[in-house]
Amino acid sequence: MMNVSLDKKVIVISGGTKGVGKQLALQCAADGAYVIISGRDEASATGIVSAARNTPGSIEFKKTDLHSVDSIRNLFAYVAEKYNKLDGFVNYAGITPAASLTECSEALFDDVFDIDIKAAFFCCQEAVKLMQKSGGGSIILVGSTHHTRGNKDRTAYACAKGALYTLSNHIGKHYAEDKIRCNYLVMGWTPTDGELALRKSQGMSEQELRKEAAKAIPMGRMTETSDIVPAMVYLLSDISSMVTATEFKVNGGELI
Ligand SMILES: NC(=O)c1ccc[n+]([C@@H]2O[C@H](COP(=O)([O-])OP(=O)(O)OC[C@H]3O[C@@H](n4cnc5c(N)ncnc54)[C@H](OP(=O)(O)O)[C@@H]3O)[C@@H](O)[C@H]2O)c1
Repeated sequence: MMNVSLDKKVIVISGGTKGVGKQLALQCAADGAYVIISGRDEASATGIVSAARNTPGSIEFKKTDLHSVDSIRNLFAYVAEKYNKLDGFVNYAGITPAASLTECSEALFDDVFDIDIKAAFFCCQEAVKLMQKSGGGSIILVGSTHHTRGNKDRTAYACAKGALYTLSNHIGKHYAEDKIRCNYLVMGWTPTDGELALRKSQGMSEQELRKEAAKAIPMGRMTETSDIVPAMVYLLSDISSMVTATEFKVNGGELI
């Protein structure tokens, strides 16, 4: 029998206040993990922390603004101080504002690069240092189908996700000797809080979004949070201990 256990693992999820990050946190706590979620939305975090109260594990919220490397370092220093180990880090947080190459302002470029790659880089720096001390761990960097070519209206985003892919391979290769794994999980087109808000700002309802996505995705439907969470649990668990430096696609065959 396979043992997909997360029991007593310490797992940090950036962007654990919304969408897939939130559902993953609840699943990990249900599986016995001690989860630390980061983000800025305290109201959302309060609900998630209380929803995990009767699970075998736990969820704590550590408010973190990813624009600040100090704030990132405080998050991991808290984990080091309290648990003295780290088994899993999931970089889910990200932003996806729309702008083509010719429309992209410097401010939008900086914002996307600050959150989607700079923050991920410094989170990984702290995660790797803590995992080195505690005998290894699993890192998941949430990527996008955009990282290879991408849609015309998402240039800075595509570039940042491409750099994130490079980071995942770099960690996967150079820290395997410390038993640290790193995988780039390509998340399909998913109706998360962020995606719904973006489409609403473009005048598209959830129903219209689902219809359009169903046409574009070979599997004929949108990716759901419930498709992604089990793949992440697998990558965080020890049964995937030889799985590293992959481009792990959960996107219904979508190619851009
Ligand atoms: N949805 C899709 O179709 C899709 C497809 C491929 C990849 N992705 C990837 O999935 C991830 C989530 O994106 P999403 O649009 O779907 O969003 P989402 O579910 O709304 O989640 C975004 C998360 O990022 C956090 N975050 C954003 N800016 C932050 C900041 N400055 N400091 C701290 N936390 C911050 C948010 O936390 P707070 O609100 O609490 O600050 C939130 O938890 C991204 O990495 C994105 O590239 C999404």
